[in-house]
Amino acid sequence: EGYIQSSNLFKEFIYLNEVDSTNAYVKQNQQYLPNATVVYAERQTQGRGRFSRRWVDLDKGIKMSILLKLLLLDLEKIVPFTLFTGLVINRVLRKHGVESFIKWSNDIYLNGKKVCGILSELSGEVEGFGSIIIGIGINVNAKSVPEEIKDIATTLKAETLHDFDRTRLIIDILKEFERELSNFEKYGFSYFRDEYKSFCINLGKEILVNGERMLCKDIGKNGELVCEKDGKIVEISSGEVTIRF
Ligand code: BTN
Repeated sequence: EGYIQSSNLFKEFIYLNEVDSTNAYVKQNQQYLPNATVVYAERQTQGRGRFSRRWVDLDKGIKMSILLKLLLLDLEKIVPFTLFTGLVINRVLRKHGVESFIKWSNDIYLNGKKVCGILSELSGEVEGFGSIIIGIGINVNAKSVPEEIKDIATTLKAETLHDFDRTRLIIDILKEFERELSNFEKYGFSYFRDEYKSFCINLGKEILVNGERMLCKDIGKNGELVCEKDGKIVEISSGEVTIRF
């Protein structure tokens, strides 16, 4: 495919018809996989979501994982990295005419429902080196989602009533990721903060964080959620967030 020839970073693309989870596949095989390998699966039998949830497998979607090796492992990096990935995907979807938004930390929403989730995992620590596995699931061309998740999730096709070229989406996501990676590495999340804020649907809303009610005031310079609770400012760097509309 085009991006394998035109990308300096993403040179390895593994296409699988079926796998348990692309994240698990990368984790198991990472010692044999070069940096920036992308593993794509047409079908996942045990797709994983955040907070030990499962990722419902939809037909004609995008399920892929990116392996980034040899980063000095730094737990603090993983959150901004995921935020960065979410921002890149939101940007690409918008370029494809989709009016998507970001729900902190890295869900992509369309018309109030989730169309994309990202699961980043750290692994393989050896003498301070290791890797980040960024798993991306996008609901693309399925006509609808199963009944059990229909109140919270949707697909690009269900909302726009047309099909998307999945290859084009993947190419654009990887290109944009690569193009902005040096800015991310140089300046961190703060380089993207204004754009992130302009698409973040949590701002100004009352939200529930691990069951506690707060008002979301801002996104901090490292991507943390800045909230107000009982007149006090609370910074949240991870955790489950529910928006109360
Ligand atoms: C979430 O929103 O909870 C994250 C969902 C991440 C799903 C993707 S699909 C490709 C990759 N492989 C997995 O098992 N999960 C991620």
